[in-house]
Amino acid sequence: MTQSTAMWHRTHTLGELKKSHAGQDVILTGWVNRHRDHGKFIFLDLRDRYGITQAVVDPDHAPAAYEIAKNLRAEFVIAVKGKVNARPDGMVNKNMTTGEIDIQVTDIKILNKCDVLPFTIQDESEASEALRLKYRYLDLRRSTLKNNLINRSKFVRQMRNALDDRGFLDIETPFLYKSTPEGAREFLVPSRIHAGHFYALPQSPQLFKQVLMISGFDRYYQIVKCFRDEDLRADRQPEFTQVDIEMSFVDEAVVTDTLEDVTRTAVTNYFDGNVNLPKPFPRYTFAQVMEDYGVDKPDMRFDLKLKNLTDLVRESEFKVFKEACASGGIVNCIVVPGAAEKFSRKDLDELGELAKNHGGRGLAWIKKVPGTGVASWNGPISKFFKDGDCAAIEEQAGIKNGDLVLFGAGTYDSTKAMLGAVRNSLGAKLKLYNPKDLCFLWVTEFPLLERDVENNRWLARHHPFTSPRPEDVHLMKTDPGKVRASAYDLVLNGYEIAGGSVRIHDPDLQKQLFDTIGLSDEEAHSKFGFLLDALRYGAPPHGGMAFGVDRMVMCLTGSDAIRDVIAFPKTQKCTCLMTGAPSLVSAPQLKDLHVKVDAPLTGEK
Ligand code: AMO
Ligand code: AMP
Repeated sequence: MTQSTAMWHRTHTLGELKKSHAGQDVILTGWVNRHRDHGKFIFLDLRDRYGITQAVVDPDHAPAAYEIAKNLRAEFVIAVKGKVNARPDGMVNKNMTTGEIDIQVTDIKILNKCDVLPFTIQDESEASEALRLKYRYLDLRRSTLKNNLINRSKFVRQMRNALDDRGFLDIETPFLYKSTPEGAREFLVPSRIHAGHFYALPQSPQLFKQVLMISGFDRYYQIVKCFRDEDLRADRQPEFTQVDIEMSFVDEAVVTDTLEDVTRTAVTNYFDGNVNLPKPFPRYTFAQVMEDYGVDKPDMRFDLKLKNLTDLVRESEFKVFKEACASGGIVNCIVVPGAAEKFSRKDLDELGELAKNHGGRGLAWIKKVPGTGVASWNGPISKFFKDGDCAAIEEQAGIKNGDLVLFGAGTYDSTKAMLGAVRNSLGAKLKLYNPKDLCFLWVTEFPLLERDVENNRWLARHHPFTSPRPEDVHLMKTDPGKVRASAYDLVLNGYEIAGGSVRIHDPDLQKQLFDTIGLSDEEAHSKFGFLLDALRYGAPPHGGMAFGVDRMVMCLTGSDAIRDVIAFPKTQKCTCLMTGAPSLVSAPQLKDLHVKVDAPLTGEK
């Protein structure tokens, strides 16, 4: 039978039809999600972005459509004509939004066929990540990924609305930028017109937004791609999206209050009001979170604070503790309530490995059993302690029968880092939190500078335009390591989802900072001369912040990695398996760009 070539325009989407539509003639379009031949009838589950609707083909009612339906396969694209039929009460499918109805098909048109699929389109796919990334368009048909992109769009719209409502102006800044190697490695773009010259893709619009403040656009935002040639992790991609924000005539309190309000409004609207966020978000200093949680982005959905034992174990016979204390280091522990029996030797060895991977030299442990003193401490290090030591440590750390106690010793930084990592892993392993919880907090008072021991110099911890806190400026010359920055991060469930600072707007203070980090006038001018010049032409006090959209959406959707909330992500090796980027380019292209390649052209990645 020949079918008419005229387009059948859909009357409804596949998530739309309800009992109230019963009796209507409709045209539906979509992909064949499932195809079941029940002998008498053929049942077709049709799928589109909006949902799934069941169509029923009855050979007595529509013999021609039945002939077509017999040859359909998964993921064929079809259009059906038919009548909406209210299902009898017992047949209603409560799991589907369209479960009250089905379609009594009168006619079917195949709009396109589908080859044999490399994997089936279902949420619990067995297919490898690499195969799914190669056929990303098929993977994006799965409801989890599809919903992530729908939710991402919803969240970004809410952020945009919240900023628009508060008078922020959306202004675009260039992608072809000037190379200013600071922080992460840059992606370079060769210039055709200027032989041997390169643009760089911006790591963020930081300097442009500061210049916009000097131009007088006192509230700016942009939803913008940023590019960083970094090693990838689950929460890092080489190109990612920021909601980038800057404000004039503000101090730290105004920026953080305004952007907390934006965050609360956008997240509340994203959840259609069904979420209760604290007002205000809790605030901690960098020093506090490092002391209690060992990381600068603590997951506050669970407790397990790090406990300081340094003064109690100074004279310990356990060499590891004694040496740590003697060399100015610390000894800390984590008490895991009721976990003594839950951890095998193998589990503890794995935690020890984790500690080593995070800069520790090892992890010591004991299991507290009923009784008192050393006799109640099970574990390889108990022999080094006296009954009195045990009692004092138990009291200080709050150790109870049945608890597992994990100890770390070494320098302050290495001990905090290893126990911080161990704490995070315990939270996940012991399921100490409800994955749906959202724990926002501010971390403030970061150190302005950090020591680059290898090169014996100071580096800006955030970026070199971050202002010192006014009360610490006097320490810039005498004790730079003690200077705290007017910088703040917003943390959600253990991820840094935003970071920002009040900027230096005084050219003399900016010069003083460049001096401290060993940047000569000449170097500073060749890198950021335009900003330094602009600061001399009436720069208002200003500050801002940038949200990592991918990380926020990952947290809001409960995804494990940001690649699950990005339509076309890169792999760990920074490749795109669907398009084959990066790729070799032709010799004439390179010649045009004045580029000679100094690498074997094997095509291997
Ligand atoms: P920062 O470098 O802290 O600040 O970046 C801001 C936020 O962007 C997110 N982010 C990333 N997300 C995914 N992949 C990456 N590789 C990646 N790198 C950063 C994080 C982070 O909190 N110009 C400053 C902001 C400012 O001072 O206003 C900046 O870029 O969520
Ligand atoms: P060792 O003396 O290296 O055999 O270590 C004895 C025990 O102490 C082992 O269980 C180690 O895992 C543990 N240990 C080693 N270094 C540290 C450290 N820096 N902090 C805590 N425990 C450690």
